[in-house]
Amino acid sequence: MQSSFALYPDLADKRVVVTGGASGIGAAFVEAFAAQGAKVSFLDIADADGLALQDKLKTTKHPATFIHCDLTDLDALAQVFRAIEASTGATEILVNNAANDVRHNMADITRAQWDASVAVNLQHLYFCSQAVVPAMCAAGGGVILNLGSISWHLALPNLTLYMMAKAGIEAMTRGMARDFGPSNIRVNCIIPGAIKTPKQTLMWHTPEAEAKIFNGQCLKVRVEPEDVANMALFLASKSAAKCTGREYYIDAGYYGDGA
Ligand SMILES: NC(=O)c1ccc[n+]([C@@H]2O[C@H](COP(=O)([O-])OP(=O)(O)OC[C@H]3O[C@@H](n4cnc5c(N)ncnc54)[C@H](O)[C@@H]3O)[C@@H](O)[C@H]2O)c1
Repeated sequence: MQSSFALYPDLADKRVVVTGGASGIGAAFVEAFAAQGAKVSFLDIADADGLALQDKLKTTKHPATFIHCDLTDLDALAQVFRAIEASTGATEILVNNAANDVRHNMADITRAQWDASVAVNLQHLYFCSQAVVPAMCAAGGGVILNLGSISWHLALPNLTLYMMAKAGIEAMTRGMARDFGPSNIRVNCIIPGAIKTPKQTLMWHTPEAEAKIFNGQCLKVRVEPEDVANMALFLASKSAAKCTGREYYIDAGYYGDGA
């Protein structure tokens, strides 16, 4: 398979799980790790996208495996991780990627919507990590990558619930890095800027919106899912062996509107 990604030989044959891997940035993670020769399992509720990606990657060294899993269902999540461990072995690299950045107004939010936002944007990162940490400890180490967001650093409008979760993910990253560092588990947070994914394009990524983003970025370039995947490959590899408990931005220097 032809790859546009940097190559990290130590990632070959690694057992990788990507959550929300069927589309967007998650799909780029799946492709990037598969291109390294890693054994990738990816979890998602988007069955059509997941199966299409699985089909696209069927000729990689280890064909990537799509597994349907609603990550807000903690029993299903635990069962899926047990099944992965039983069939392919313990997870060595976990990419906690799935999220849902629904715009909202505070006045409309019910208790149920609050819980749903926490469930899809924060809770599963903790419980997916809980599922893989024991085997990582037993194996002498592992890597967990959590997806944060530039959004709360910029204080974007109508995204409070999502931004709260993303801020929590940075704290979770530091807490887990502290607790599991002695077991050689590295935990880092990747913070994407404005990434042009299929969903963002449908929702709002017009040429006018992109011009506004460029105005806020130091580099006047579009940041693509593959750019985020390259950061993930580096952080998962031995090249980042001394990197843990930190946030890594991939955002073309997105500080805001530059005015
Ligand atoms: N795109 C951006 O500009 C951007 C910016 C900052 C941060 N991020 C973060 O990067 C990550 C990926 O973003 P994206 O833009 O690719 O998102 P996306 O919405 O395009 O994709 C998210 C994936 O997660 C899956 N998913 C959603 N709910 C799920 C559930 N309950 N169970 C299983 N899977 C579920 C979706 O089906 C989808 O495949 C997210 O954590 C997001 O917050 C993205």
